[in-house]
Amino acid sequence: MTDTLHSADTATPRNDENWWRDAVVYQIYPRSFADSDGDGLGDIPGITSRVPYLRTLGVDAVWLSPFYPSALADGGYDVDDYRAVDPRLGTLDDFDAMIVALDEAGIRCIVDIVPNHTSNRHVWFQEALASPRGSAARDRYIFRDGLGDRQELAPADWTSAFGGPSWAPVGDGQWYLHYFATEQPDLNWKNREVRDDFLHTLRFWSDRGVAGFRIDVAHGLAKELPLVLPSQAELDALPIDGTHPIWDRDDVHEIYAEWRTVFNSYTPARTAVAEAWVKADRRARYASADGLGQAFNFDLLEADFDADQFRRIIDFNLAQSDLSGSSSTWVFSNHDVVRHATRYGLPALHGRDVKQGAEWLLSGGRSPIVDVTLGLRRARAATLLEFALPGSAYLYQGEELGLPEVAAIPDAERQDPAFFRNHGTDIGRDGCRVPIPWTNNGVSFGFGSALPHLPQPTSFGQLSVEAAENDPSSTLHLYRDALSIRGRLQVRGKLQGGGLEWMETGDAAVLAFRRPNGWITVTNFGDTPYELPAGEVLLSSSPLSNRVLPGAATAWLQE
Ligand code: GLC
Repeated sequence: MTDTLHSADTATPRNDENWWRDAVVYQIYPRSFADSDGDGLGDIPGITSRVPYLRTLGVDAVWLSPFYPSALADGGYDVDDYRAVDPRLGTLDDFDAMIVALDEAGIRCIVDIVPNHTSNRHVWFQEALASPRGSAARDRYIFRDGLGDRQELAPADWTSAFGGPSWAPVGDGQWYLHYFATEQPDLNWKNREVRDDFLHTLRFWSDRGVAGFRIDVAHGLAKELPLVLPSQAELDALPIDGTHPIWDRDDVHEIYAEWRTVFNSYTPARTAVAEAWVKADRRARYASADGLGQAFNFDLLEADFDADQFRRIIDFNLAQSDLSGSSSTWVFSNHDVVRHATRYGLPALHGRDVKQGAEWLLSGGRSPIVDVTLGLRRARAATLLEFALPGSAYLYQGEELGLPEVAAIPDAERQDPAFFRNHGTDIGRDGCRVPIPWTNNGVSFGFGSALPHLPQPTSFGQLSVEAAENDPSSTLHLYRDALSIRGRLQVRGKLQGGGLEWMETGDAAVLAFRRPNGWITVTNFGDTPYELPAGEVLLSSSPLSNRVLPGAATAWLQE
């Protein structure tokens, strides 16, 4: 091993404390990435076998969604054991081998930590069920007595994030809180043993060479439930200002301050990124250097493909990360949302608060009609803009192939608890978790040798890695070219890589900005062709004719 990561051009020393500030992080949903042993589930050796692909793509790190033992009541976010690998996905030795292979390719590894809840199969929850009320075992979770003469009624009418009730009875008059699925009991973070065990888990994976962590539901851990529980309506009416009983409490940061001491006991310090769905102006707390250090910003993911919205979001978030001393994160797709190539082909949201694409998914992909070509053009344009921004970019597996959301999954094959708990009013997130097509043909288009755990549409063959390799105009080639240029041009070192300066475009639908080294990005959000400013054209998301940028396209120039 040498002491630098990546090819000579983009060398990042292994001990670089700031590597994450402008990293390109590729999210792997392990059970849907590559299946090495033909059981229909992707696995750790499958990831290892694809390291050359990741290296050629040019990403700095991978983030692995949970690969821990799990009954998959929520796609692995119901963890049975935080310090083990699901035997269907491999062993700890396989994990170590993956880390070595990634490291040799210059790629760091971030793993998902799910601290808000365990699974109901976790040894602690089993112990809690077998122990009486008031026991130490029950204190690790959030148990309450039921209401009614026989305590047969839930302690409150709260609704779970996936629909349905969020309190479940255990048969002796007590009920437990599960903010997500019934199989995901919420932990009690006031319990010292819970706290210590997670510190142990963070050390366990850090010792195995993990570079950082993605923290699931980071805004939910600290809870302060009054003796008399409020109703759901009362809860909803409370301000989320740091004092709410459940969400985004100020004291959650005491937990992360403890975690920080663990992170900083390593060289380089381990990093963390918070999944915190909080008000934009409270996000910086999660990104503070005394806490997790970085937080996801989902603002672009929730926006329309619209110049004005993009500019406001970019300005706001760059200012926020200056405040926290962190760096911005940019995300368009992940395992929880409709893929952006599809979202951008749907009618604009115009500020409507909708789960993007939910209406379309519910209609089985029939209505409203998706403009597939426009969706992909816009997705490519948005990505090229994203890669030029200061800060780090989080990609989701398959977006580099331009994969669309899959709407047509038979009910019998669906897996997401959101689908089962909502009786047909929420189709869930399976459509972005369909296994990756690696080859044009074959039983699972090269994902493995058996039928995959979620069905792939026949159109996936044409969208495979193999097909993309052979097409110079493919989205895969665009991502590779873009990441290689970014690696060369990214202004490293300073916080935010030196920021950006907006340029006057004379067209409200066109955004242009310049990085300090003269790297210019122009994005045309409209449909009127736009004449590019002076500079050498480095790359464009759609073909140019005579320096004219067509609609729904981005170009990079060098001054
Ligand atoms: C996060 C995850 C999501 C999961 C939920 C409960 O939002 O991203 O996939 O269902 O937490 O763990």
